[in-house]
Amino acid sequence: MIELRRSAERGHANHGWLDSYHSFSFADYHDPRHMGYSVLRVINEDRVKPGSGFGTHGHRDMEIISYVLEGSLGHKDSMGNGSTIVPGDVQRMSAGRGVLHSEYNHDKSGVTHFLQIWVEPDVTGIEPSYEQKHFAAQEKRGRLRLIVSPDGADGSVRIHPWRAAGSRSMGTSSAPATPSRPTPAPSSSSRAWMRKCWCSMFPRLSARLRQSNGPGARALSKLAPSTKLEPIMHIDTGIPAKQRAAIAHGLSRMLADTYLLYLKTHNFHWNVEGPMFQTLHTMFMGQYSEAWNAIDPIAERIRALGHYAPGTYKEYLRLGSIRETDGVPQAGKMIKLLIEAQEAAVRTARSVLPLAESADDQPTLDLLTQRMDMHEKNAWMLRSLLKK
Ligand SMILES: [Fe+2]
Repeated sequence: MIELRRSAERGHANHGWLDSYHSFSFADYHDPRHMGYSVLRVINEDRVKPGSGFGTHGHRDMEIISYVLEGSLGHKDSMGNGSTIVPGDVQRMSAGRGVLHSEYNHDKSGVTHFLQIWVEPDVTGIEPSYEQKHFAAQEKRGRLRLIVSPDGADGSVRIHPWRAAGSRSMGTSSAPATPSRPTPAPSSSSRAWMRKCWCSMFPRLSARLRQSNGPGARALSKLAPSTKLEPIMHIDTGIPAKQRAAIAHGLSRMLADTYLLYLKTHNFHWNVEGPMFQTLHTMFMGQYSEAWNAIDPIAERIRALGHYAPGTYKEYLRLGSIRETDGVPQAGKMIKLLIEAQEAAVRTARSVLPLAESADDQPTLDLLTQRMDMHEKNAWMLRSLLKK
């Protein structure tokens, strides 16, 4: 039996900056009749407004294929890849044991129209990887062109094999395909996948569930959260969940830099020596005290956005851009190191500003502006000490 499902019948979410149609249940769209098809879990048709996009967020154990129909999509990820995907390009990201990425429409006027497709692989916990290939329009005109397959046949983009047996491959013509078979009722693997996505979105809660017994708990026990910077309950303040997650992640980097800067400055306050001792000892005290007082508002803003604030040195070293200093440098070197650290904190704050701006998140914008102002002033005062 063939069931025609028209595109207008898909799930739909318009977030202003993002207009998205979901072939299968995704985010706030939940339809038990459309949970996926076999290992094909997501087909989203997204239109992203100029100057906006998805901030840094995480995935794991999923093959993610992006296909741009119109405009361009800027991509950056934690593997070090940075690219722009244009019509005809096919991007494959194997999230494996965890990857962070962002997707952005940097164009000033044109919408980015693209498909994002998720396929569940048969392997978990693998090294994340990335591939991008271009398929010319004439290769797809009037015929199906294999663009993604598990064996890379016909020069297609290769994805990790999926769970179902067989050698099915996905093809595309110039227009996106419509599902040609009825979508099955949610199978046990569909439900497991929903739990996986849910875990990715709500890792703290799922961590609690993992402590309980039962098959669900056993399935969850395999799913370590990719990041703890995710919401734990529904929040409706007018900022979409993805944007809140991106802002919270940015603020976590800011918190890490502030904490690392605080410790470095306090360390130098204790250990500075030489003819400028009194001046530096006092100046460093003022700066570390200010940084210490700044930590709390940043952490509490992360909490207000519905996320957990990082609170271990391990996380700060992972998230922060300021490096620790070994040993006890000379006074002049301390000043230079602090200038670098103050400037690094400014850069981190500046990198989060666009995320807060795109969400009209005024409290975060105010917080970041204050932090930039303070770190720039500190850097100026420190630089003044080096003037001959
Ligand atoms: Fe993503």
